[in-house]
Amino acid sequence: MSIRGKTILYTGAAGGLGLPATLHFLREGATVLAVDHDAAKLAALVDAAAGIDAGHLVPMRADLSDLAGFHALLSAQATALGGLDVVINNAAIYPSKPFEDYSVEDHQAVQRVNVDAGIVAVQVALPHMRAQGWGRIINIASITFYGGWANLSPYVASKGALVGLTRAWAREFGAYGVTVNALSPGAFPTDAEKIHPDPEGYTRFVLDHQSVKRRGHPGDIAAALSFLASDAAGFISGQTLNVDGGWVMH
Ligand SMILES: NC(=O)c1ccc[n+]([C@@H]2O[C@H](COP(=O)([O-])OP(=O)(O)OC[C@H]3O[C@@H](n4cnc5c(N)ncnc54)[C@H](O)[C@@H]3O)[C@@H](O)[C@H]2O)c1
Repeated sequence: MSIRGKTILYTGAAGGLGLPATLHFLREGATVLAVDHDAAKLAALVDAAAGIDAGHLVPMRADLSDLAGFHALLSAQATALGGLDVVINNAAIYPSKPFEDYSVEDHQAVQRVNVDAGIVAVQVALPHMRAQGWGRIINIASITFYGGWANLSPYVASKGALVGLTRAWAREFGAYGVTVNALSPGAFPTDAEKIHPDPEGYTRFVLDHQSVKRRGHPGDIAAALSFLASDAAGFISGQTLNVDGGWVMH
């Protein structure tokens, strides 16, 4: 099981789960095209990767909400890198407020980053994958899709769209040697959680729901991504892999 030598597009690579996973891919000998719009976080990723002498990090600053700009930048980079073997659609925004307070434009802004930018990524990557008869697409979903969590309606809808695209793409791209899966993280203690008013109560809530009685760590995501991106997962497509400590079971 190896992703050595593969070229991986990872959107939102400088985030809480993305940064450690990117370092993991580099250690495994992959080239990672690491896309994020946050310059400071991208610089922290470059710093963190400096000590790793395997793999190759290609940081790319881009705002995914500018779909045309992203398409142009990504096309140029993909050509320079000789094509993308693996696409991980991971970047996401997650505003939180009651449904009544969202405008349609608010919904569309979330879809643009969480879903439409992933469509752009696949449009750019697919011709190379198809030509070489091998490719991996992994869409990052969310446990919130299963329970329909309150105050997150645009986000939950965007994750549902990604699960739908996973199935449609899997059916369509299988003949090209390209598999498409979703990875659905459970509740990971990243920065987003730090704003919770009762951190200890929230941890109790998470552990009560999980079968595995420890909090998840980014390495749990990185290991599952590596597997889905590898040859070993070549007969798995159209699935949603829940990496959530045994919380959701369907
Ligand atoms: N952390 C969790 O517990 C959890 C749970 C379920 C699902 N997820 C999913 O996992 C993925 C990663 O989550 P995370 O916790 O690392 O989140 P995060 O917010 O730490 O990382 C997301 C990254 O995307 C980048 N990004 C946001 N908007 C962008 C834009 N317009 N252009 C370019 N980059 C942009 C951010 O700068 C950030 O670095 C997301 O898809 C999220 O929905 C996370």
